Amino acid sequence: MDFSIKTFDAKTTIIAVKTGCIVVGVYENKKLSPAAQQLDAKGAISAALKSGDISGKPGSTLLLRKIEGVVADRILLVGLGKNEEITEKDFSSAVHAVVRVLANLGAADAVLALPGESIVGRDAAWTVRCVVMAANEGAYRSDGLKSQKDDSVHGVKKLAVVLSASAQDAGRAAIAQAEAIANGVALTKDLGNLPPNICTPTYLATTAKKLARDFKLGIEILDRKQMEALKMGSFLSVTNGSVEPPKFIVLKHMGGKAKDAPTVLVGKGITFDTGGISLKPGAGMDEMKYDMCGAASVLGTFRAIAEMKLKLNVIGVIPTCENMPSGSATRPGDIVTSMSGQTIVVLNTDAEGRLILCDALTYVERFKPAVVVDIATLTGACVVALGNHNSGLFTRDDAAHDALANDLLAAGKSSGDTAWRMPLGEAYNDQLKSNFADMANIGTPGGGSITAACFLERYTRKYTWAHLDIAGTAWKSGAAKGATGRPVPLLTAFLLQRAGQ
Ligand code: BES
Ligand code: MN
Ligand code: ZN
Repeated sequence: MDFSIKTFDAKTTIIAVKTGCIVVGVYENKKLSPAAQQLDAKGAISAALKSGDISGKPGSTLLLRKIEGVVADRILLVGLGKNEEITEKDFSSAVHAVVRVLANLGAADAVLALPGESIVGRDAAWTVRCVVMAANEGAYRSDGLKSQKDDSVHGVKKLAVVLSASAQDAGRAAIAQAEAIANGVALTKDLGNLPPNICTPTYLATTAKKLARDFKLGIEILDRKQMEALKMGSFLSVTNGSVEPPKFIVLKHMGGKAKDAPTVLVGKGITFDTGGISLKPGAGMDEMKYDMCGAASVLGTFRAIAEMKLKLNVIGVIPTCENMPSGSATRPGDIVTSMSGQTIVVLNTDAEGRLILCDALTYVERFKPAVVVDIATLTGACVVALGNHNSGLFTRDDAAHDALANDLLAAGKSSGDTAWRMPLGEAYNDQLKSNFADMANIGTPGGGSITAACFLERYTRKYTWAHLDIAGTAWKSGAAKGATGRPVPLLTAFLLQRAGQ
């Protein structure tokens, strides 16, 4: 889709605009948005509203063709909710509905003349981002491996968003930024949706290399030998049962000043999680191809920030391998030594994410990070706690970490990719005690997402750190099965805010 910004003044009016479709808003209180009023000179729109053909409820739509006094071929009415005080949620529902209709129209272009500068608490840039993201989401397909492709995406190819003259520069900048984010989200979805026989650790490494080449990023890929030399005994214990070679990917986007401490992202990259010897049940196991969505979100975020030339130093680290059962796999009861020197008794080989992340979290100490954020499909318990709406956010609770948590929560809110803060603390930490090693890799029953975060916390004491558990938000199950691209919008908003952009 090709996006642009359009403004109207006294000379050029919306009545005279030549386009396949003009989109205007109506409200449940039977009022018309300003643009709808302008098109209503002959009363066709108010008549439609009065007749009950459109309710004005958020996302309700009605297509009118060739109304008198208006040059455009079609008018699409969309409900914006109760009244002129449009909420973020109602506007977003309206935009998603519009995108669905436009995708199935015979028109090639459309003009979106919604009151996008009157959304409570939001500005024109937010509106533009909302439109670009929704259009990209609507156009996303995961049929690359089907022999017959889905050709249902035709319709509108060019979409102009109407803004006031004073907002047009901000609007244009927002298009570029939103397209970069949408491209990042699409990459994250693609990687997540690929089958685990294609999206292997080697495939993720190749994807990272390609990103580095296309966007001039720094890259280093460590193989098993180098990980052995670094004494990553915890990470390597997870890959023992697999014939796929493990990879440790380091990506660098150095857009800030050379001496500025980097922001580090660490993504869990288990390309398939069988559970290992602590084998998972068969039902739904295919979804464990999504256990690399943390890694995919790091790659997608790099795609986005590289395209927008973010003025910030960001380092991405991805430990990636498969978790398979075999004669050489780690057994429950095995004790391994992490890169930090701390020993771990592996009571459950299915709690493998923390085992690969802890060595990555030790590795990143060398960058003297400003902050480290890890992203992982870490626990089923997080899905029990928060469902599919919020990612779980865990940090320590001193002043620096409260500030980091609040920045991440705000980035989630502004991007519509929300997180919710969860506790840590000594009482939960004690659940990891073992008689035989420094810690066990699973806690005593209860608070599973928290004890997992507590495990990671023990490896992050040298810097400011946050953990995002995306087990419930990274993909959808059921008929709409597919990766969501989350938390790329949250991470990108967080990094933009840190860069002051
Ligand atoms: N990748 C899973 C977490 C997961 C499970 C995410 C289901 C989304 C849906 C992780 O490696 C895992 O298996 N965790 C175990 C931990 C347990 C053994 C302590 C879990 O959540 O059951
Ligand atoms: Mn597991
Ligand atoms: Zn896992």
